[in-house]
Amino acid sequence: RIFDNPAQLAREVARRIATLIRKRQAEGRPVVLGLPTGSTPIGVYQELVRLHRQEGLDFSNVITFNLDEYYPMQPDSLQSYHRFMRENLFDHINIPAENIHIPRGDLPPEEIEAHCQAYEAEIRRAGGLDLVLLGIGRSGHIGFNEPGSGPETRTRLVVLDEITRKDAASDFFGEENVPRHAITMGIGTILEAREIILMATGEHKAPIVRRAVEEPPDRQVPASFLQTHPNATFYLDRAAASEL
Ligand code: GLP
Repeated sequence: RIFDNPAQLAREVARRIATLIRKRQAEGRPVVLGLPTGSTPIGVYQELVRLHRQEGLDFSNVITFNLDEYYPMQPDSLQSYHRFMRENLFDHINIPAENIHIPRGDLPPEEIEAHCQAYEAEIRRAGGLDLVLLGIGRSGHIGFNEPGSGPETRTRLVVLDEITRKDAASDFFGEENVPRHAITMGIGTILEAREIILMATGEHKAPIVRRAVEEPPDRQVPASFLQTHPNATFYLDRAAASEL
């Protein structure tokens, strides 16, 4: 789906999420969301906060699982995804604290594998992911599933791609400060969601969007595996769609 501008795209995605939340509320059931960070989803989070404040959109039945976190990373650090989510969404809505899940970047190395397995188990216990929102990195990553990641991958510790570390350099005041690792849900974890929305805006994303949509699914472009999902939609602005 192609939108005239990022604001329209954000409104449409937020509307889709709000519809799902209200439907589940009417049924007395929770809704389980997979959430991204980065600059792309900020407009969606702003719109969700607006819907909460102005239309009383109720998040009490919402359970969230974030896609990823840098490793190592303290939750209060400037670049932490824990902090990003609090500042951009969670501090401004009525989601119960116990419903929020984000991979931990502050555990010692020997505890990471168990943490990743527990994260997967927690998703299953919640009933699986209903809707996963995604951005896309210029490397073709979704979450932090860098080139080389295939559909069998689950939540795990990964090595960040060079392009990704370059793109994150300004957030960390220099590429040398960008962590070399991250914890991310796997491609397999993401593909088990009932619905997937990938958002991309801006002309710098146009080449990778074209490869993800038009080339056969391949590990070199992990986002291309979304083609194999029965209910995955790319939401693009005109600039990101310009090479399709
Ligand atoms: C980040 C995140 C991804 C995100 C991507 C694009 O590093 N880990 O989940 O989709 O890179 O970021 P942006 O939306 O700022 O372009």
